[in-house]
Amino acid sequence: MKQKNLLLDGQTAVVTGGASGIGLATVKMLSSVGAHVIVVDINKELGHKVSEKFQLESKKVEYIYCDVGSESSTSELGGKLLGKKKSIEILMHFAGIGLEKKFVNTSLDDWNKIISVNLTGSFLITKEITKLMIPNNYGRIITMSSVAGLRGGTGRAAYGASKGGVIALSKVLSIELSPFNITVNTLCPGAIETELVKNMHDKETRRAFLQNIPQKRYGFPEEVASAALFFTLPGSSYINGTVFPIDGGFNSSGIIKNEAS
Ligand SMILES: NC(=O)c1ccc[n+]([C@@H]2O[C@H](COP(=O)([O-])OP(=O)(O)OC[C@H]3O[C@@H](n4cnc5c(N)ncnc54)[C@H](O)[C@@H]3O)[C@@H](O)[C@H]2O)c1
Repeated sequence: MKQKNLLLDGQTAVVTGGASGIGLATVKMLSSVGAHVIVVDINKELGHKVSEKFQLESKKVEYIYCDVGSESSTSELGGKLLGKKKSIEILMHFAGIGLEKKFVNTSLDDWNKIISVNLTGSFLITKEITKLMIPNNYGRIITMSSVAGLRGGTGRAAYGASKGGVIALSKVLSIELSPFNITVNTLCPGAIETELVKNMHDKETRRAFLQNIPQKRYGFPEEVASAALFFTLPGSSYINGTVFPIDGGFNSSGIIKNEAS
């Protein structure tokens, strides 16, 4: 039986990186409040699996392949969406890759790969999706940075630069797209338990992170998804251009002693 009056009934959301981790948790959350979700991901196997799983639960979730770092691929995606949708109300750009490598060991190849997916991908996908937002005078865009875009840290020359770039890009977009009633806000998660972190954080990285997280634990994808959802709700209409940490207090912390004295 169809549920009525869900918060995002009638809205379509594009979620890049929606086949795994934070993106997948957000797809679940958006579809549970009535949005039609288009999962955009480079991983075809996972993408199809995810859409099939949600469709079995009668959720409006479909998958479209796209490599966000490739202009031909994002423009093909844009063409497909223009052909099938009159409007897209929400864009959540979570497709991303990680790298932990010291600056002196970072090759130009490493640099280009990270920048092309994390930063150029944000630029390219936003160009395509705003074509379906501007004519309708409405849009909610959530981009994905990281605490690595706010703070320095070992091994994050390429990754941190890509995420710092996302913050700068998002701030400019929040101004330039504002006349079209499009808001742009950026999430800065700290350490969240996902596949990306499994590959990127070794034992020493985990120890160093936990030492500086006041809540003394890694976060869960759902804890980022609920923040992402918040920026799409009617009550968030005056929130624009923000940079929002979801990090258990990491970004605010300094020295943390085990016992106060
Ligand atoms: N997990 C964390 O601790 C953390 C912290 C801060 C920021 N982030 C950011 O959150 C986002 C999601 O990360 P996650 O931890 O859920 O990782 P994840 O690896 O679980 O998910 C990333 C998804 O992006 C997809 N993807 C990768 N390259 C792509 C491309 N070129 N085109 C389209 N899709 C592509 C992958 O297939 C995957 O489904 C990333 O931008 C990441 O940098 C994660």
